[in-house]
Amino acid sequence: MKHFVSMKNLSEHELLQLIKLADEISSQGLQPFSEQLFVANLFFEPSTRTKMSFTVAERRLGMDVLDFASESSSITKGESVYDTAKTFESIGASLIVIRHPETNICTQLAEKLSIPVINAGDGTGEHPTQSLLDLLTIYQEFGKFKGVKVAIVGDIKHSRVARSNAYALRTLGAEVVLSSKPDWQDDTLEYPYVSIDDAVETSDVVMLLRIQHERHTGNEQLTNQTYLEQYGLTQAREKNMKPGAIIMHPAPVNRGVEIDDRLVECNRSRIFKQMSNGVSVRMAIIKRLLEDGGIMNANSFNEREVASR
Ligand code: NCD
Repeated sequence: MKHFVSMKNLSEHELLQLIKLADEISSQGLQPFSEQLFVANLFFEPSTRTKMSFTVAERRLGMDVLDFASESSSITKGESVYDTAKTFESIGASLIVIRHPETNICTQLAEKLSIPVINAGDGTGEHPTQSLLDLLTIYQEFGKFKGVKVAIVGDIKHSRVARSNAYALRTLGAEVVLSSKPDWQDDTLEYPYVSIDDAVETSDVVMLLRIQHERHTGNEQLTNQTYLEQYGLTQAREKNMKPGAIIMHPAPVNRGVEIDDRLVECNRSRIFKQMSNGVSVRMAIIKRLLEDGGIMNANSFNEREVASR
């Protein structure tokens, strides 16, 4: 694996290997690298979880983090994203993590840079590291993907999380259904659309999505309460979920909109578990990329310390 920019072209074997590595890291930790390695975190869009869990993952691996704020960088002088990334490569970064509003930008950068690129969310394109942490959460719960039914629910059209998960869950053989307000459907995803009641009652995983207000152009007329009642997870609907079924959401959560406030931390919810899994998953991806790229080998770990979760 040279870069980690999309879930589309990863094989079942590659996905399972990464999930199992992340699972192992989450229970046993991982020794930090013994040599000095720099990583550049280039975030051009707001982020709490993704940015901070990358930072924790990188520091646990013993890496030096080059933190970048576009508003105080040469981007304000008109420098391109490519030249910015190339600068970090030139000054010695071994890896670039990037979040940017432009769809596909990570794939373009990956073609031009010689160091690994990780997509931390590209516009409405993909969010492969979020997807991998979602997959780890499902794997820890059910131990498999075949025979597990996942409902992806909400603003599918504008969600990069939905897209990455739709691709990966197909590769892994899970059953997937989609449920959305009609104008937020994405017909390029080849899965059936069902009603919210059907999705909730028949699935093992109810994966909710945030309404992506920042990506909408028209005026959305629904009030929060109406959206929740028509398309969201209400307390009444949760009572109809299958025994053992779980609730997921990539967060940030609009409490009382996609999901009733009282369900965010209920027994079925794995929302905060997803966040913890984000650290191990990102450690696993970084380790794999640096090893596969010949940037470090398995002996580069420091035996004195163990970077636990
Ligand atoms: C997601 C994102 O940025 O796409 N958030 C995240 O990384 N956990 C989902 C969202 O913002 O709705």
